[in-house]
Amino acid sequence: MKVLVVGGGGREHALVWKIAQSPLVEKVYCAPGNPGIGTIAENVPLTVEDLPGLLAFAKEKGVGLTVVGPELPLSLGIVDLFEEHGMTIFGARRNAAIIEASKAFAKDLMKKYDVPTAAYEVFTEVEPAIAFIDRVGIPIVIKADGLAAGKGVIIAQSRDEAVAAVTDMLSGNAFGAAGSRVVIEEFLVGEEASFLAFTDGKTIIPLASAQDHKAVFDGDQGPNTGGMGAYSPAPVVTPDIHEKAMTEVMRRTVDGMAAEGRPYRGVLYAGLMIDGDRVKTLEFNARFGDPECQPLLMRMKSDIVPVLLAVAKGDLSGVSIDWHDKAAVCVVMAAGGYPGDYRKGDEIKGLGDAAAIDDLYVFHAGTAETDGKTVTAGGRVLGVTALGVTVKEAIDRAYRGVGAISWDGMHFRKDIGAKALKR
Ligand code: AMP
Ligand code: GLY
Repeated sequence: MKVLVVGGGGREHALVWKIAQSPLVEKVYCAPGNPGIGTIAENVPLTVEDLPGLLAFAKEKGVGLTVVGPELPLSLGIVDLFEEHGMTIFGARRNAAIIEASKAFAKDLMKKYDVPTAAYEVFTEVEPAIAFIDRVGIPIVIKADGLAAGKGVIIAQSRDEAVAAVTDMLSGNAFGAAGSRVVIEEFLVGEEASFLAFTDGKTIIPLASAQDHKAVFDGDQGPNTGGMGAYSPAPVVTPDIHEKAMTEVMRRTVDGMAAEGRPYRGVLYAGLMIDGDRVKTLEFNARFGDPECQPLLMRMKSDIVPVLLAVAKGDLSGVSIDWHDKAAVCVVMAAGGYPGDYRKGDEIKGLGDAAAIDDLYVFHAGTAETDGKTVTAGGRVLGVTALGVTVKEAIDRAYRGVGAISWDGMHFRKDIGAKALKR
């Protein structure tokens, strides 16, 4: 079978890497892909928003399965379009991807179906929003309703900051249409985990547990990023927490979406806040996490293609997934300046040395090829991912890979996985 992966970041490199190992697959295309992906698949010069172009390509090449990485094409309706044309595609339909595209939708759904989450209200006007802030107090969390590339969440530590955030979002143009509504919610304490599951809209099969590192600096300091590293398994997800995440979060959400006439098919990602034995949902994503996908797929023992096909065809019953016992750790190496304005075009050295390390894979995210050299081309540049018998061993191996690689201005966190070691 021929498979088309849509996207071109570290998540899609991991998907292509895993899919290409399937005995069912003869050829993998990736649109637009990246230089790392190009070593194991054929990059296709189409953007993720070019839905008609992607459909025409998939038809012309006889693609048997299309797998969508990022959120944008899902919320543009790529799955709906492909299905109208009889094509098999893995991902959430447009009316289900709204669970990520609108935080107000997700919060209202959680309230209606009793999915544990922070107390909140939704506002479109500044005055009542400020009155709510004064009622709840500080710290308080302000979220732009729509997609804001991970930058639409402000954790306000002062009243001034909270007022500025809602004013910016509602009356300014800080996030364009994404900020025309805001969710204001209670600040939660605890440790975060990423809980992902495959679902056909009825059956739910969880992936292994994982944890992201959103803040740019060690010790979770500094502004949030798309994710500076991840590992799996995440010991914060104890068997008891796993059970709660499945029954109180995943089951209620999947059933709720079905009841709303928005059956959810694809991978559902819940960002959880865990405090003792209490689980609350911070957000949903309609896609694999990035970078969580990298360590998760390195740990996945089963062939992923039958799972993706079963989801796409709407019957996951009878499918099971085996995982390697080993732990996996992904350290993201970022361009100078990220998550602010960042440098581009710096030559990356040492990729070959890192690749020579066993049980380690360097997933490309923001890279490009110029004059035969691999250069930086995005904020998150590489996801250096390693397996180990223990988390400690995986951490050490991943950082050995990181140590082999360099470019001007690069930076990375030095404490990826440290929370797992503390438990
Ligand atoms: P979200 O995009 O909603 O997941 O928010 C991005 C990040 O902001 C989360 O990963 C958390 O670190 C933080 N965050 C979001 N909501 C809350 C909350 N209610 N309490 C504390 N931190 C939060
Ligand atoms: N790593 C967080 C996300 O993919 O949203």
